[in-house]
Amino acid sequence: MSEPIRFYYRGAVHEVRDAAPTQTVLQHLREDLHCTGTKEGCAEGDCGACTVVLGSVVDGKLELKAVNSCIQLTPTLDGKALFTVEDLQQAGGALHPVQQALVECHGSQCGFCTPGFAMSLWGLYLKKEGQCASRKEIDDCLSGNLCRCTGYRPIIDAAQRMVELPKVEFDAASLAEQLEALKRDSLAVYSAHGQTFLAPRTLDELIQLRAANPSAVLLAGSTDVGLWVTKQMRDLGDIIYLGHVDALKMLQVGEGSIEIGAGVSLEDAYNALCQHYPNELGELRQRFASLPIRNAGTLGGNVANGSPIGDSMPWLIALGAQVLLCGAAGERVLALEDFYLDYMKKDLQPGEFVQAVRVPLPREDVRFRTYKLAKRFDQDISAVCAAFALRMDGEAVAEARIAFGGMAATPRRAAQAEAALNGRAWNEAALADAMSALARDYAPLSDMRASSEYRMKTAQNLLRRFWLETRNDAPLAADAVNAFAVSA
Ligand code: FAD
Ligand code: FES
Ligand code: FES
Repeated sequence: MSEPIRFYYRGAVHEVRDAAPTQTVLQHLREDLHCTGTKEGCAEGDCGACTVVLGSVVDGKLELKAVNSCIQLTPTLDGKALFTVEDLQQAGGALHPVQQALVECHGSQCGFCTPGFAMSLWGLYLKKEGQCASRKEIDDCLSGNLCRCTGYRPIIDAAQRMVELPKVEFDAASLAEQLEALKRDSLAVYSAHGQTFLAPRTLDELIQLRAANPSAVLLAGSTDVGLWVTKQMRDLGDIIYLGHVDALKMLQVGEGSIEIGAGVSLEDAYNALCQHYPNELGELRQRFASLPIRNAGTLGGNVANGSPIGDSMPWLIALGAQVLLCGAAGERVLALEDFYLDYMKKDLQPGEFVQAVRVPLPREDVRFRTYKLAKRFDQDISAVCAAFALRMDGEAVAEARIAFGGMAATPRRAAQAEAALNGRAWNEAALADAMSALARDYAPLSDMRASSEYRMKTAQNLLRRFWLETRNDAPLAADAVNAFAVSA
């Protein structure tokens, strides 16, 4: 039987009974609730005009995160709190310090982007609890908001100014209590407009549901799937939502590896990984989409989607990561490189899903880097993404693992380049042979992101950069990457 979607909105519990399961949160706000402060710019998670803040209770603690409402589906709000720019107004109509600071610093011209900026800044305001954020934190917080007329300097000024104004408190404890009361213990089923949205709570429920509905769409953070709805106008049919399965949100450091549940957000996953690989993954973390996308999207979704230009797969493959699959027939563990069969085709049996990704921890004898090339620093998909891991035996390469995104139909290892390095001293002669071998490993495509020639040239040059940073004599390693490292 269908149950209504219930979420906390404007100080009360709001119920939805008749929205299509693929209605976006933005559509619900603007078209059903006539709450039009939140804007639609791109409808694909790029511009940030639609930014809202979602609240949820995780391990008894309230978490508030900015996300793009244009690609989140309304039923995923069940049990959460939804905050929009309308919530910022104070008693008597006074502006919130975030808004007041935007006014004082001239942070808005046409104003179309402003509600989105205000909500991203509100997320930062709550996170910092009255403390001034660093410039790096402000840049990261605004990485998903585009403004075409004001320019960013006045908005950054506002981010610094907002904490100088009289503080507005937020009652997190009372919201957490209200959300606890909304929590469901078992599977929730929501049906409308001939479609069903299934939200299991436990791994067992998920296994059974998946076995019974092998063709239903699995939905995690919706940062890929949301675009199938808003851009491709696809009819998704029935949907199984993974966002309430706590067992998929586990993050565990074990002997030599860290296991990351498929439901862990990209932001939490990369922050945890950066504790172990601060220099090696710091820049990639910062350049992976934007904060709202990383707040919503999951590492499991990135791996399961398996796009040839996805950013996690090259470095996961280079490090020798494994993917843990689960289904009614039991569990399977695969080397991630074996998971990708062909363009967007994975070794996933009917009824199976990705349960976790197991990532090796750093080893002293392994030199590892990953590099992303895209047209913009923030919020852009890679033209080429490279990852190199060399297990050294003294000054010689015992085993090379090289993987690229953007060079083939799947994220793939460079077998010939690896063979050119294995057993050789890590010197310029070996490097030259490996660079030439890359031309035998890949025949990249030309597309709107880059030409085939550009991809090959830059892939070879990234290998050279890796050598410059990790060569046996005078390594530039730490300094070169520290410039970008993010303190997690
Ligand atoms: P969803 O969209 O929910 O699902 C993606 C796919 O994986 C679907 O096919 C779904 O059925 C399947 N799936 C999800 N979870 C599982 C599971 N546990 N088991 C089996 N199948 C599953 N990607 C990059 O790599 N780098 C970027 O810089 C980047 N920038 C982006 C910027 C924007 C504006 C947007 C909209 C997307 C961007 N992406 C980027 C793509 C996207 O954010 C990632 O691929 C993300 O990790 C997807 O995770 P998700 O949880 O949102 O997956
Ligand atoms: Fe552009 Fe949502 S409308 S990110
Ligand atoms: Fe016009 Fe930002 S103020 S887009």
